Amino acid sequence: MKIAVIGAGVMGRGIAQLFLVSGHSVTLCDASSSQLDSAVEEIKQRIGRLIDKGRLSGDIGTFLKHLHTVENMEGLDDSELVIEAIVEDRQSKIDVLKKIESRVNDGCIVASNTSSLSISDLASCCAVPGRIAGLHFFNPVPLMKLVEVVAGERTDIKIINRLTELVAQTGHRAVCVTDTPGFLVNHLGRAFSTEGLKMLQERIAAVETLDAIARDAGGFRMGPFELLDLTGLDVSVPVMEQIHAQYYQDPRLRPSEIGRRRLHAGRLGRKTVQGFYNYAETEQSQPTAVTDESAKPIDAVSVCAFGDAKDRLEDFLDRINVTVLDGAELVLVAPLGTDVSTESSRYSLDASAVVGIDTVFGLDTHVTVALNPRTDSGLAERLCVTIRQSGIEASIVRDSAGLVLQRVVAMIVNLAAEIAQQGIARPDDIDAAIVAALGYPKGPLEWGDHLGAKTVWQILMNLQQTTGDDRYRPSPWLRQRALTGASLLHE
Ligand code: NAI
Repeated sequence: MKIAVIGAGVMGRGIAQLFLVSGHSVTLCDASSSQLDSAVEEIKQRIGRLIDKGRLSGDIGTFLKHLHTVENMEGLDDSELVIEAIVEDRQSKIDVLKKIESRVNDGCIVASNTSSLSISDLASCCAVPGRIAGLHFFNPVPLMKLVEVVAGERTDIKIINRLTELVAQTGHRAVCVTDTPGFLVNHLGRAFSTEGLKMLQERIAAVETLDAIARDAGGFRMGPFELLDLTGLDVSVPVMEQIHAQYYQDPRLRPSEIGRRRLHAGRLGRKTVQGFYNYAETEQSQPTAVTDESAKPIDAVSVCAFGDAKDRLEDFLDRINVTVLDGAELVLVAPLGTDVSTESSRYSLDASAVVGIDTVFGLDTHVTVALNPRTDSGLAERLCVTIRQSGIEASIVRDSAGLVLQRVVAMIVNLAAEIAQQGIARPDDIDAAIVAALGYPKGPLEWGDHLGAKTVWQILMNLQQTTGDDRYRPSPWLRQRALTGASLLHE
């Protein structure tokens, strides 16, 4: 196929490489000749490395024979597909799309790699809106094996089908998504970092502790603050604000003030050396233990929990050799979407003796121990020492509805459920896209099934009731599946 890519920056050169190694003829076009030169050099080196490593068979000269460069969009006449990947600016993109349309044949498909602009809006400025679609690649294009194929309101379904087939033929997974703010991945990706920032704003724990819990107990590759530092607040904060605004201030997507404040202060992340972490040091500081390791271990505790939570807690206590004893000096509660204060009050416990344990996440790896405002912190420290002696990490956090991971993962599952409810993408595509693009340990809907839709629904309802915040309102998709026992992946 004859493909043209307009814009030879980070994305354009990656897209060109992908189609080149998939056997297509590619014309790369950029307003800057130096960008074209560096793009060709980079593509040449990358293809060369793939051949050297045996990941690609063929001769570099043959691939490069099919790569052409132009500075001014001449020679696009016989293109079958043109992909626009210039700067993320609405008017510049409209100008380029119009120019493309003036040069190509009627049968040519025109796609935009925009990550935040509306395809329906861009298409409405074009002569043939039906042939305009979104083709949203991820950086780095050859390695991120996912492409969102975005259908605008007027995009011809045949165009979507052809693009989907074309992407599949490159070995990448194509997911069809409707033209909505943030499409699929950037929309669903909000839950993790947005909830992380909200916990920081509420001073639930230090960033190191929140990140460590997310990694160890949640299985995330990075904690929310490590991820924000990697992406840079200059990118993440505008995305959070735009998507929130475009969904008319839906509280589920509400960012925290802390992000914009740090952006103003220039604490963007790795790129400015100072982010949530300081990258000037060669070695990143490890999460600092907040407990006094010399504290005397605990031999016995009482448990005020019920059902599965009680079973899990008692099994855990057995594994760390702590006896369950009525009237012991420390009482463990197991909040599910509520906080420790609520559980203490509900069961008329002496709050100074009560700590909360997350029994949903981390009992094998990293236990979250939550205090209430009156908890004797010495008792909590002794519990952490006892847990660590069994080789399991433990962190103390302030009282928080849904502790740490319950609220983070419930938000992710709920947003995925809402995206399924709105028909933005198919349930299996939602899961596949999130695993491929964001590297979560499980697709969010599968994760919800694994935890139990009813459990996630309960966490969210309790979060909503405890905090009074509609941010946590459950999606109908989740509620209906929790009530009927259907899978969250079920259409
Ligand atoms: P970039 O700044 O690296 O490259 C943009 C290129 O477009 C530059 O080489 C520039 O010279 C060229 N250009 C600008 N105006 C032009 C015009 N009128 N005609 C021809 N060439 C022109 O930008 P990047 O990062 O490659 O982004 C491109 C698009 O891809 C944007 O829409 C962005 O939102 C989207 N995107 C970016 C991702 C990323 O991680 N960088 C991820 C997914 C999408």
